[in-house]
Amino acid sequence: MSKQMLVLGIESSCDETGVALVTMASTGLPVLLSHALYSQIEMHQAFGGVVPELASRDHIRRVLPLTQQVLAESGRTLSEVDVVAFTRGPGLAGALLVGAGVACALGAALKKPVLGVHHLEGHLLSPFLSADPPEFPFVALLVSGGHTQLMRVDGVGRYTLLGETIDDAAGEAFDKSAKLLGLGYPGGPALSKLAAQGNPAAFKLPRPLLHSGNLDFSFAGLKTAVMVQAKKLAAVQEVAVERLPMSVLADLAASTQAAIVEVLLKKSLAALAQTGLKRLVVAGGVGANQSLREQLNSACSARQVRVHYPELHLCTDNGAMIAMAGAMRLQSGQQEASGIYAFDVKPRWPLDAL
Ligand code: KG4
Ligand code: ZN
Repeated sequence: MSKQMLVLGIESSCDETGVALVTMASTGLPVLLSHALYSQIEMHQAFGGVVPELASRDHIRRVLPLTQQVLAESGRTLSEVDVVAFTRGPGLAGALLVGAGVACALGAALKKPVLGVHHLEGHLLSPFLSADPPEFPFVALLVSGGHTQLMRVDGVGRYTLLGETIDDAAGEAFDKSAKLLGLGYPGGPALSKLAAQGNPAAFKLPRPLLHSGNLDFSFAGLKTAVMVQAKKLAAVQEVAVERLPMSVLADLAASTQAAIVEVLLKKSLAALAQTGLKRLVVAGGVGANQSLREQLNSACSARQVRVHYPELHLCTDNGAMIAMAGAMRLQSGQQEASGIYAFDVKPRWPLDAL
């Protein structure tokens, strides 16, 4: 692949439409030229979560205007695009089909090849767009709304699963706990904001699988424990859970966050010890959590471990990570772009199957 190859990336796996233009610098690192994002959060808020059919329809509305926007902002034209990368999975089937369909239509019209990218690989590699890019090999903590995994990463496409959640993801634990505390959707940012005003030691909540001796996670029991605790408090005060005093809700939020963060921290440290690696990459929406970042930073610096994060605005879903993962796969020779425009999507797709 020539160094100046221009990759257009399209992300549409869930509730964010993202489009970006990325090129590879002579240093071998990706360079983000422009990116644009439309979040559907407001649209789904009324339903308390993502409505897949509405998500797909909205991606259709947004993807071309966003494409025009990134081209205009970078001063490029469609004809300069060399490869069109899109999220092939995992995600919502209908939503994925929009991005795949548009990417393949653009590829066919421009006579340029297309590339299906794994959404989690996008998250995993997103710190390569930061001011402090990592070097291989490293341990990756992937914490999104649908996944919680620890991976050993030896290079682009060289991923070994070390452990993962056996039920809910960390993001799901944030979202579900936030919902039952009446904090709305998406729960992670709302819960962590409220947690900042609360006492993390106020309530004793379970740390699932903390001492399991392996690197797996389990978060399904935590939301039940939060619910039991919240209902107990609400019964004493004779109010609905969401009507509990703000200070009590803040203590519940802080205690929930503390439980999730402690498990993520301890398992990440165990993965570093097990692999002997001195580098940790944190990616996915939950990687935006300030408390997680603070605790990882201090524990890792005490162990001479370097921690890398994506830029805060690239932690949650975006097109930049898809364009970049596509460019890095091409450059590393892990994948060739395809001139066949008969696309498919993979709503379920394990990362270590790449
Ligand atoms: O990676 P992402 O944008 O989408 C998926 O691929 O799932 O992650 C979204 C998840 C949601 O569960 C959201 O609540 C969580 O990331 N999240 C956070 C924060 N920001 C986003 N969780 C905790 N603290 C945050 N600041
Ligand atoms: Zn994601």
